[in-house]
Amino acid sequence: MAIAYVIWGVITAISALIIKLSLHIITGRRNRKRAVGFFHPYTNDGGGGERVLWCAVKAIQEETADLHIDCVVYTGDHDASPQSLAARALDRFGVNLIHPPKVVHLDKRKWVEETTYPHFTMIGQSLGSVYLSWEALCKFTPLYYFDTSGYAFTYPLARMFGCKVICYTHYPTISLDMISRVRERNSMYNNDALIAQSIWLSRCKILYYTIISWIYGFVGSCAHLAMVNSSWTQSHIEKLWRIPHRTKRVYPPCDTSGLQVLPLERPSKTPIIISVAQFRPEKAHTLQLEAFSVALKKLDADLPRPKLQFVGSCRNNSDEERLQNLKNKAIELKVDGDVEFYKNLMYRFI
Ligand SMILES: *[C@@H]1O[C@H](CO)[C@@H](O)[C@H](O)[C@H]1NC(C)=O
Ligand SMILES: *[C@@H]1O[C@H](CO)[C@@H](O)[C@H](O)[C@H]1NC(C)=O
Repeated sequence: MAIAYVIWGVITAISALIIKLSLHIITGRRNRKRAVGFFHPYTNDGGGGERVLWCAVKAIQEETADLHIDCVVYTGDHDASPQSLAARALDRFGVNLIHPPKVVHLDKRKWVEETTYPHFTMIGQSLGSVYLSWEALCKFTPLYYFDTSGYAFTYPLARMFGCKVICYTHYPTISLDMISRVRERNSMYNNDALIAQSIWLSRCKILYYTIISWIYGFVGSCAHLAMVNSSWTQSHIEKLWRIPHRTKRVYPPCDTSGLQVLPLERPSKTPIIISVAQFRPEKAHTLQLEAFSVALKKLDADLPRPKLQFVGSCRNNSDEERLQNLKNKAIELKVDGDVEFYKNLMYRFI
């Protein structure tokens, strides 16, 4: 008898929750605004993804100037305001928005942070992103939901809210290479050495990745229009999402007009190599440094000594730490005189 009561209680609670969530969705659908909502929780990372965001906002402002469509940015940065974001777009990327975007602040960003999930990071972050987009869509439901950060798991929810889903994908969350890498039992930044050594753990990881790649295929196929940044990403996304007719390749917006006016003659005799990338793990800065130091050793003594300049942004403390380690590594390799570091530079031509 008691057990029947417990089951009954659980069923009632779940039904109440489902009804409550459905009401939120119905209210959201009814109150959809003529707007494009850009889901971009980290609006201060200073990378290529952020540049795409601002170029997309600007392009939509230009295309819809007389249609009264607002551009709204969902961000987890609490200090972000329409003015500060417009200023950032200009200072960091040279993108001059027609008017500042509207801003919707998100409080639940920690649910998509890697540090929240020491294990099963991928599934944790994916579910976390659904929760974060729930917050976003309840606070403001746009007609068009534009994901510029690769949170594919949020698309089915955006569709429930009646949005048209558009995305710009730089990189598939899970790629078929990752599965084959575990299969070959390589150890890389996303596959720690312990797992690479054990056959059973590797098999479990393959199963985990395979299941996630199915789910990823389903959620991705909910996009009405998927833009990808390269032929590599296109071939992976087409295999995973299986919507080739709605997948378009749009190369990232690189403004070369400013660069073209720079003089071609070299101001100094020193050959300079510039490496531009955020100080994040997958950019393999340490490897670049090691390669440079090996190359230096092989260089003929009568040739001019080249310089390596690292230019990039730091998103947070882990990036800062990585940069510091890189500087220490340069000293250790005795190339600190040949390497220069430039952090968080402004986008500005002389
Ligand atoms: C820094 O940001 C990256 C990417 O958002 C995240 O994976 C990492 O855990 C963050 N580190 C800290 C210390 O916040
Ligand atoms: C696409 O984005 C990924 C991830 O940021 C980057 O590694 C790759 O170089 C980009 N491809 C192009 C053609 O810009």
